[in-house]
Amino acid sequence: MLVGMSRSYDVAPSAARLTQSLRDIGYNFHTAIADLVDNCVAAGATHINVETVFEPNGSYVLICDDGTGMNETEAVESLRFGTRRDYELNELGRFGLGLKTGSFSQCRRLTVVSRKHRTKSEVHVVTLDLNRVARDDSWAVLADESSPAIERAVDMLQESPGTVVVWEDLDRVLPDRYAENGWGRRRLASLAGKTSEHLAMVFHRFIEGAVAGRGDVVIAVNGEKLRAWNPFAPDEAETKSLPPQRFQIETADGSSPVRFCGFILPARDRFSSPEEFDRMSGPLKWNRQQGLYIYRADRLVQHGGWSGIRGIDEHTKLARASIDFDTNLDEVFQINVAKMKVELPPTLKSMLERPVHELSVLANDAYRRSANAAERKETTKSAMTEVALQDVGVALKAALLEESELPAFRQALDTLRRRNPTLADSLGL
Ligand SMILES: Nc1ncnc2c1ncn2[C@@H]1O[C@H](COP(=O)(O)OP(=O)(O)OP(=O)(O)O)[C@@H](O)[C@H]1O
Ligand SMILES: [Mg+2]
Repeated sequence: MLVGMSRSYDVAPSAARLTQSLRDIGYNFHTAIADLVDNCVAAGATHINVETVFEPNGSYVLICDDGTGMNETEAVESLRFGTRRDYELNELGRFGLGLKTGSFSQCRRLTVVSRKHRTKSEVHVVTLDLNRVARDDSWAVLADESSPAIERAVDMLQESPGTVVVWEDLDRVLPDRYAENGWGRRRLASLAGKTSEHLAMVFHRFIEGAVAGRGDVVIAVNGEKLRAWNPFAPDEAETKSLPPQRFQIETADGSSPVRFCGFILPARDRFSSPEEFDRMSGPLKWNRQQGLYIYRADRLVQHGGWSGIRGIDEHTKLARASIDFDTNLDEVFQINVAKMKVELPPTLKSMLERPVHELSVLANDAYRRSANAAERKETTKSAMTEVALQDVGVALKAALLEESELPAFRQALDTLRRRNPTLADSLGL
């Protein structure tokens, strides 16, 4: 048999076509910024500031950090679609794409301004400009471009190392008709507000200093320092947390743990203040913020919803739970490029059914007790008796759940409701 060289063709992608198609892979302004903040956090930054600057026909965005910075080779490499590099366990990057895909989802001109050297104030400026890429159909990275935004970025790095990413030509943020008027200014301001809310949630553990091996990370938007939004309201005296549980998930090369922890937040009348209750409602408000908060290496990638384990329900709006996984489970969780979505592996989904059910039973009780508390004010019924009965109901349910399987538990409840509906009602079952 003849063994020869097999024929092949080198089919490099068209720069003009590919950059254009990759603009629409599902980011919006605040999720794109969050993907860039990932890079700042990964570079060990302790101060990160996002600036949105409105200038008629010259608006720009800066994402500034005091992380390790990049030398010239690294800065150029950072602009490669599919940056060549290795990752350690629980590094936030994975695809070598976020900087480019996130940025070009919003703008046409991306510049990385970076300084690595502590003592030498050597600042590198490299740019990918979609207009040039389209014109030449080439991946050329431009050196030492200049503009008022880039000059500001260079100035910021005069004292110490760090990186400033510059977005210019914001065609997706401020289409032409908005680029020079008050609408544009308001739109940029409103996007900045949304960004604050999103970053305060997604990076709350970093802001709180709750991530092992690193101190507080200060994140600011337009100079305003963000207050962490922790979905589990740990400062509320009445927040209840259930004992954490661990599940082992098998992978091709071994297994890795996933951690689950359920919380029942206090109802409105048990919150420290109505203002705090409203703040803890979250970006999508109480109902849609119930459910699972999935963290990849301490960075939130999904906030709320039950991932198909159960449905959103007004009665369980006080139930929230954290799920933590490490980056070696990226594949089984099918993390997407924009780091906004995961799929629960089917084995985990079935293991979570019971703890999620327990959590929703308890959350349902907390909700009903508060609804009843409101009604009690208008009835002559003895409040004490009712509370006592409800407590018995909760204790009963908890005991039953601990001792029996789910179907048996549901059956027992059904029987009681059938035989003694009034009592079942008073017990809150
Ligand atoms: N702010 C920054 N400070 C230091 N290095 C950075 C910064 N931003 C990007 N880099 C470097 O550029 C590389 C490419 O970034 P990019 O976001 O495109 O990919 P990634 O973070 O490696 O993976 P992912 O696609 O998952 O985000 C990073 O791996 C990092 O080495
Ligand atoms: Mg990245």
